[in-house]
Amino acid sequence: MKLFLDTAIYEEVEQGVTWGIVDGVTTNPTLIAKAGMDHEEQVKRICQIVGNDSAEVVSEKMDDMIVEGRRLAAWHKNVIVKVPLTPEGLGAGKVLAGEGTRINVTLCFSVNQALLAAAIGAYIVSPFAGRLDDINEDGMRVVADIVSAYRQQEIKTKVLAASIRNPMHVTQAALAGADIGTMPFAVLKMLFDHPLTEAGQKKFLEDYRKTQEAKPVATKR
Ligand code: E4P
Repeated sequence: MKLFLDTAIYEEVEQGVTWGIVDGVTTNPTLIAKAGMDHEEQVKRICQIVGNDSAEVVSEKMDDMIVEGRRLAAWHKNVIVKVPLTPEGLGAGKVLAGEGTRINVTLCFSVNQALLAAAIGAYIVSPFAGRLDDINEDGMRVVADIVSAYRQQEIKTKVLAASIRNPMHVTQAALAGADIGTMPFAVLKMLFDHPLTEAGQKKFLEDYRKTQEAKPVATKR
């Protein structure tokens, strides 16, 4: 499972890329607003350091979404255009996909919706696990069911587990067979954490220092 960052903050992406663990980025209008930066400028900067950044259309009508999607796709070859799982969004996605633009269908909450995304030739479908958990449904079960339906139907659309809220969600998404998991920077950092790693590394360094201190001082002949 590839690890994506769900952020519009360049510095977070840069850190994840420097660690060698981040393959892509997803953004949405809420994250853009939170980052408080110019959308185009931010997406272009991010695209210079990762192979893909999903940028979402905010128009409401299909024709406007098509125009906006073309504009987003022209920003950089690494832009994936995100459209909502609505009739207008899918109609626009179909046209854009037909033009060769990679489409990420967002706001997916069911297997049936994921089948619609596949039908328009989406490159990615994004089921929002955390938001399903929020309404007392099993979000990761839906992710697993979409993966299973796609495998049975030999559908190539990638399943991106979105709305990941904690490290356990990451493990569950991987075990469910998701192709990609997108998460906030705080969750990505938590993936490193294990008390035995921390304690083991501390002890290794202490023992190394002891051997250095115990070394006999070289004497001149
Ligand atoms: C994914 O593309 C979405 O931006 C994101 O995962 C939504 O997460 P949230 O439900 O925590 O806002």
